[in-house]
Amino acid sequence: MRKQRVLVLVSESGLIPQDPDAVSEADFELFKTAADVTRALESLGHDWQQLGMWDELAPLRDRIAEWKPTIVFNLVDQFRYQTFYDQHIVSYLELLRMPFTGCNPRGLVLASDKVLAKKVLLYHRVRTPRFQTFPMHRRVKVSKRLGFPLIVKVHLQEASAGISQASIVYNEQALAKRVQFVHENFHTAAVAEEYIEGREIYVGVIGNLRLQILPPWELFLDKLPAEATRIATERVKWNLKYQEKHGIRLGPARRLSDDVRHKLERISRRIYRALDLSGYARIDYRLTDDGRLYFLEANANPDISSDEELASAAKSIGMDYDRLIHKVLSLGHRWARNF
Ligand SMILES: Nc1ncnc2c1ncn2[C@@H]1O[C@H](COP(=O)(O)OP(=O)(O)O)[C@@H](O)[C@H]1O
Ligand SMILES: [Mg+2]
Repeated sequence: MRKQRVLVLVSESGLIPQDPDAVSEADFELFKTAADVTRALESLGHDWQQLGMWDELAPLRDRIAEWKPTIVFNLVDQFRYQTFYDQHIVSYLELLRMPFTGCNPRGLVLASDKVLAKKVLLYHRVRTPRFQTFPMHRRVKVSKRLGFPLIVKVHLQEASAGISQASIVYNEQALAKRVQFVHENFHTAAVAEEYIEGREIYVGVIGNLRLQILPPWELFLDKLPAEATRIATERVKWNLKYQEKHGIRLGPARRLSDDVRHKLERISRRIYRALDLSGYARIDYRLTDDGRLYFLEANANPDISSDEELASAAKSIGMDYDRLIHKVLSLGHRWARNF
């Protein structure tokens, strides 16, 4: 690949500060991905600039006109506080015929809407927990097809926002209360799903047409306090102290039968295609003790920092971080041939 001018596009809070060494550990987490990616870009010999998005598109258009990047490295995860507006930003890039890394607009639309994704995948016979949506301003009446316990989630959210131990409900009264909590705090519909007891497995996928399925990764929650339900709550995902205290860690999924491994590979491929994903993604499952797999969600543009699941899984099969970033850039260019 010839030398690239890479415009690293982040949400404003993800900008690398002037003096990265002077910030606290918590603040470092905010721009860690951009720091990792730009380090890799440098070691691959590319030029880069960063741009923070907040609530205007004009700066993006101006920078593209002035600096003429060859590709945008898309790390935007919100626009005006909305996580699902990232899809509009890539749509805009597509209209400008500007190559970008990661997922295309259609894939982002399909995958980031948990309900829509599940509806599409049901057609493709992918097993997902039974679910029901509860729109705002409507009485909560649970369908007879659903069995408690249920987990109540926020329709258009990610990163475990709104997920805590209180999300698991055991009766209709508690369900109604939690649905109300979601409506009041997130101003969007709630989704209740049958709670699936089991292990938490993540599968990274890289590619546009030809797909590379990474080895399954697992979030180990077995050392949580006995009374806690084993789910990735907001605290499990983001609180470093809590993670340390309870031995929460990510790593290669061990003790998986060949049958389950093959199934994971086959289903991940099918899901990636059915949801029109491109670039790279991470697909999340629950795996029950008797070997049944349930699709939870597909994350388009998952965290691509060097120590997260995707990069670690890639590294485990010999694709080091620089090669991963190189691959992501070339997939972005290849996708842009469709424009
Ligand atoms: N049906 C389910 N059964 C068991 N656990 C679930 C279920 N749905 C979600 N979870 C738990 O909640 C976490 C967050 O749910 P998820 O749908 O992935 O939302 P987010 O977009 O916030 O990551 C999951 O990683 C998993 O631990
Ligand atoms: Mg998730």
